[in-house]
Amino acid sequence: MATPTIARHLVTEIPGPKSQAAQQRRQRAVAAGVGSTLPVFVESAGAGLLHDVDGNTLVDLGSGIAVTSVGAAAPEVVAAVQEQVAKFTHTCFMVTPYEAYVEVCEQLGELTPGSHEKRSALFNSGAEAVENAVKIARHATGRQAVVVFDHAYHGRTNLTMALTAKNMPYKHRFGPFAPEVYRLPMSYPLRDPAGLTGEQAAARALDLLDKQVGADNVACVLIEPIQGEGGFIVPAPGFLKAVADWCRDKGVLFVADEIQTGFCRTGSWFASDHEGVVPDLVTTAKGIAGGLPLAAVTGRAEIMDAVHGGGLGGTYGGNPVACAAALASIRIMREQNLNAAAKAIEDITLPRLRELAAGFPAVGDVRGRGAMLAVELVKPGTLEPDPELTGRIAKACHARGVVVLTAGTHGNVLRLLPPLVIPADVLNDGLDVLAEAIQITIR
Ligand SMILES: Cc1ncc(COP(=O)(O)O)c(C=O)c1O
Repeated sequence: MATPTIARHLVTEIPGPKSQAAQQRRQRAVAAGVGSTLPVFVESAGAGLLHDVDGNTLVDLGSGIAVTSVGAAAPEVVAAVQEQVAKFTHTCFMVTPYEAYVEVCEQLGELTPGSHEKRSALFNSGAEAVENAVKIARHATGRQAVVVFDHAYHGRTNLTMALTAKNMPYKHRFGPFAPEVYRLPMSYPLRDPAGLTGEQAAARALDLLDKQVGADNVACVLIEPIQGEGGFIVPAPGFLKAVADWCRDKGVLFVADEIQTGFCRTGSWFASDHEGVVPDLVTTAKGIAGGLPLAAVTGRAEIMDAVHGGGLGGTYGGNPVACAAALASIRIMREQNLNAAAKAIEDITLPRLRELAAGFPAVGDVRGRGAMLAVELVKPGTLEPDPELTGRIAKACHARGVVVLTAGTHGNVLRLLPPLVIPADVLNDGLDVLAEAIQITIR
């Protein structure tokens, strides 16, 4: 982790007067349905710091929801984007191709779990990648059912809303949703019966699947190896492997949604790596391209190539500027060993969060891997979620200039997703503020 040149520095209330004015302007132009966690308008951003229009510098423990892993203006990404944008901005890969797209697919083939032959297709957003993974799985298997889990989040398009578990705000009054989607209980160690192993949690889910859907009807099981919006739920060890093994036995495709967990976020290229699981298909987005919109489906060559020519694509998918950004970001991840950086963030953060759990019974659980860490807040002595307290702690952090996000089906999880290049003292400052916010809010 590098030494910072500038740190958190507040010169106005948060949001400041210029941000407040911009927010009023926004309300007259931007649809109300598009929310913002903290309406501080950003002028520039760097490795773990956001500089706003009022002259405040905030600590960023959110990375724009796990996107700016290499920083929000990594010089190598900026240079690669500038160079590409001056050459050409777009041709459409489906019309006249370019090599950067191919190189991104080569990198994906190399970095995703498993040494088998792979192919990739590039898209614009995580939801679009998930939609395409389902299309490919259905086409390759000739089956229709798609199986997802409680607390899952896979996006906001029509099919991905059906795959996403939580009603508010993602699905409420947006139906009808796509059919042939089935939901199973997830392994959730905090809330499962004590002692339920990963294998037992998998058996609980797969028995339902067998009885209610029938393996022969299932195209794919789609799962986040660590659930993101659902509350950073890390399944019990063995759960993912048992589900993947069942899939292999039954000719069902195992699809890992690594959109939030991928590209070094959890201290490994992909979270599936921690469990030694090799998915048939992997979806990626977010951290892949240093903030530019890019997403992918990567999978076994025979599955990916089963789709007829022209069956996959989209005007902007694998845009050359986004591909240039991805190649620069992946270079940074390799050269700066961002897997080790994520692990270093975990080593700093987890003990501090555990200290909070020991001191405050409302901190019901501390969990996560690498730079994807969370605390779950409950009514003391129970497992009853406390979303109201969670919201107040988040607000107290925001008022002190630290961006933290909330998550969870019950909205009672504070999640930390710092950029992997955040300097140690900026991170520690953010964690000091979080500790103080918890103390003053709970007292
Ligand atoms: C696991 C997962 N899948 C899919 C998505 C959807 O990605 P996007 O917002 O780029 O459509 C997200 C976004 O948060 C995600 O975390």
